Amino acid sequence: MSIGSLTGKFKKLQENGAFNILLHPKVIKNRLLYDKELAARPTVMTAQPPGLGIEMTNRCNLACVQCLRSLGLKPYKLGDMDFENYKKILAQFPYAMNIVLNGFGEPMMHRQFFEIVAYTRKTHPWAKIGIYTNGMLIDEEKARASMTCGLTEINISIDAAHPDTYRRVRRGGKLDVLHDNIRRLIKIKRQMGAKFPKIGLNFVMVNENEGELVPFVEQAAEFGVDFINCITFAAYDWGFKNKRTPESYLTELDAARKRMEELGVVCHSFPEVSTRWTDPNRAFSCNFYWGENFQVNYNGDITLGCCTPFKETYSYGNLLETPFGEIWNGEKYRRNRELSRQNISPEAACTSCDEFCKNFFVKPAESNFISINELAVQRSKQPVVK
Ligand SMILES: C[S@@+](CC[C@H](N)C(=O)[O-])C[C@H]1O[C@@H](n2cnc3c(N)ncnc32)[C@H](O)[C@@H]1O
Ligand code: SF4
Ligand code: SF4
Repeated sequence: MSIGSLTGKFKKLQENGAFNILLHPKVIKNRLLYDKELAARPTVMTAQPPGLGIEMTNRCNLACVQCLRSLGLKPYKLGDMDFENYKKILAQFPYAMNIVLNGFGEPMMHRQFFEIVAYTRKTHPWAKIGIYTNGMLIDEEKARASMTCGLTEINISIDAAHPDTYRRVRRGGKLDVLHDNIRRLIKIKRQMGAKFPKIGLNFVMVNENEGELVPFVEQAAEFGVDFINCITFAAYDWGFKNKRTPESYLTELDAARKRMEELGVVCHSFPEVSTRWTDPNRAFSCNFYWGENFQVNYNGDITLGCCTPFKETYSYGNLLETPFGEIWNGEKYRRNRELSRQNISPEAACTSCDEFCKNFFVKPAESNFISINELAVQRSKQPVVK
């Protein structure tokens, strides 16, 4: 390991207050092995995923334009994670280091959300525990609970700088209410002298918010948040179509980067668009087959290991029915890893997924554009591949 990479790791531990990981050598050992395996992409994995996403609920109080759940997809049942089931699921990941309590839904709608965080902090004291939230529900009580439950990080999704845009993107929400919630959360954190959770704001670049990234950066500086994230929307073939040009993204991103530097705004996640979107021969590769940010749905289902929620079409198994080890190196995972290694898309959803960006800038008529809605229906009529 190089000095640079060691320094980076040390800085991360410091940022996340996670030095107690040094008391858990097995967790570190798993992480080192995982990184090595991820680079080699074997068909069978020995290490467990260090990054884990567990969906608290797939219910939501908003209906954002870019969100898969807003499409009213079928089959797509709504539900919450049962606390006892959560315990059973989490116990299968004793080496998880980065736990995000999210999937497609609003985690703060879960009645036992703060108890679940506190439980996770107890079982995984070394872990970075984070959430993404739309922030609309962070009242005074939830703001205080957020300071004491054991969260490392809160990412609040905004995706707009102006109230009208916000209304169009984050349908059902109100920007002035959200801004008040953010101000109060930061005030309470300061009053309580809490080091954690770190508070970040999230901006997903969609068609509707073009031109608002720079004012968003300025607002983030004004609020005094710890960081921001800027990401481009995942198009997949979920029915969302990119209407912007590469130049429009690049110009806006350049201006935002400049403003961040001027204002000293820290950005954790910034889109790397040039290689991602311009190389038509880009190799087919997705780290989800090797469990990067391994995603578990609210009911224990593992569907492609990413956010795709179709058990009926893309199931690897259910953690409440089959132990993780059996799923992780089961026939389906092995098949998909093998195909991916050969540069072949293992599943229909993956073929169109913007993880590969084959058609992010291609007009739908020029591509084999088929919405994932149709795919889900088609595939649910086929026998499940065993
Ligand atoms: C799915 S939401 C769940 C948590 C919470 N409800 C929220 O909005 O933050 C998590 C994050 O994914 C983002 N997201 C939703 N659809 C997306 C897409 N198509 N591409 C990229 N990010 C997306 C949201 O904007 C949000 O920042
Ligand atoms: S708030 Fe989050 S989960 Fe709800 S619709 Fe918006 S992006 Fe999706
Ligand atoms: S290619 Fe896309 S749909 Fe397929 S597993 Fe990866 S992220 Fe999920």
